[in-house]
Amino acid sequence: MPFTVIVGLQWGDEGKGKIADYLSGEFGIVARFQGGANAGHTVNIGKKSYIMHILPTGLLRQGTKGGVGAGVVIDLETLRDEIKVVEKASGPLKDRLIIDERAQIVLPFHKIEDAQIEESRKNLRIGTTQRGIGPSYRDRYARYGVRVGLLRDEGLLAEAIERALSFNNPILESMFGVKPMSRDEIMDWIMPLRDYVLPYLGDLSAFLWRNRDQKILLEGAQGTLLDVDFGTYPYVTSSHCIAGAASVGLGIPPYWLENVIGVTKAYTTRVGEGPFPTEMDEALSAEIRNKGSEFGASTGRPRRCGWLDLPALRYAIRLNGVKEIMMTKLDVLSGLPEVLVAVAYETPAGKTRDFPIYGLESVKPVYKSMKGWGTFTGERIPHAALEFIKLVEEEVGVPITLLSYGGDRAEVIRRRIISEEF
Ligand code: GDP
Ligand code: IMO
Ligand code: MG
Repeated sequence: MPFTVIVGLQWGDEGKGKIADYLSGEFGIVARFQGGANAGHTVNIGKKSYIMHILPTGLLRQGTKGGVGAGVVIDLETLRDEIKVVEKASGPLKDRLIIDERAQIVLPFHKIEDAQIEESRKNLRIGTTQRGIGPSYRDRYARYGVRVGLLRDEGLLAEAIERALSFNNPILESMFGVKPMSRDEIMDWIMPLRDYVLPYLGDLSAFLWRNRDQKILLEGAQGTLLDVDFGTYPYVTSSHCIAGAASVGLGIPPYWLENVIGVTKAYTTRVGEGPFPTEMDEALSAEIRNKGSEFGASTGRPRRCGWLDLPALRYAIRLNGVKEIMMTKLDVLSGLPEVLVAVAYETPAGKTRDFPIYGLESVKPVYKSMKGWGTFTGERIPHAALEFIKLVEEEVGVPITLLSYGGDRAEVIRRRIISEEF
């Protein structure tokens, strides 16, 4: 089956939106399978800039179809606004968009709890996006969630909200001293939003099954190191971000995932708390942040910047079964006298090329110094940049098939697979 998954290989914001937008020209059907409005996927087309949170980026192209899978937690206000933006960009979504009826709704108290929980953790804060992601995934697993398909039936919806409140009000009240919410309050909030969503409710899993012979692009959110099990727990998000999540998040067989594309920056960023072995000192981090506009697409928070981390990249490649890497932001490193790449870690137990399950905070990167490069253009890859790319390919054993050297859709170079080893 011609299904391709795009995943982030770092801590999110690798440029998945740009790559998904670029590739969507080759795909008629696109889908999101996990996460929620914690995602911010930026697409720049000429002078226009879009930030997608819930819908797959590929819907910005005319004629593409697709949707949002069962594994997504939906912020209804964000969805409403995004539908308008996408319709303006690429025409009506009626007959093009399917929201799987099984997807969960992020309710107002989830956002309040997200903020309150963060506040109460004091120096153990995760640095969440405060989009209610953790509490809504928690309710889904605790079987107190409200699924978007219930918007079809006011009575069933009210019942489900009542049930969710029976679980959430005691949390709000006893843990945080926040006034409990009433069913009517939530119904008053949800009913006007419902009209925006109803026309698109459907069964995305069945749609994908019917269209399984078409080229289909599945767009991951967040990144491998934020995966709830395989990331840097507890400094992670609350969903699975690795390629396997596409199967369960959409309700499609795992063997349909034919290609896995991993996206990485030429360096690393992280927003929020948690260990980050290759983090740069503040002066250099600030320089890269300004050059690369490294501020959260969803929250505007400054991103922490660091060098490319190959133990982490190898780990991400292994978990996802990455077949090709697409590397972004090579232009941001232009003009530096030297570019560092972590090839291994020094740990209390000795040197390793592997990413540890515990103790990431106490590893020290072993760097290889590479020559910096000048301006990147579409016509010419600077020699030093090519050396850098070849080093990464040799170290991780997977080809880099696309280079991105600017935010715009057009600023990419497709590479043939040069070496026979791959
Ligand atoms: P995503 O969450 O993985 O889709 O990434 P974000 O959109 O949150 O962050 C990536 C940022 O880098 C966005 O502002 C993109 O427009 C921008 N970007 C993507 N690729 C490149 C590139 O090759 N060079 C530069 N300078 N910016 C890029
Ligand atoms: P995209 O799809 C970068 C981070 C948050 C925080 C942690 C948990 O744009 O790459 P959450 O709100 O999910 O409970 O926050 O995960 N985080 C992201 N970082 N890019 C994202 O999405 C992220 N989504 C969540 O900063 O550290
Ligand atoms: Mg982002």
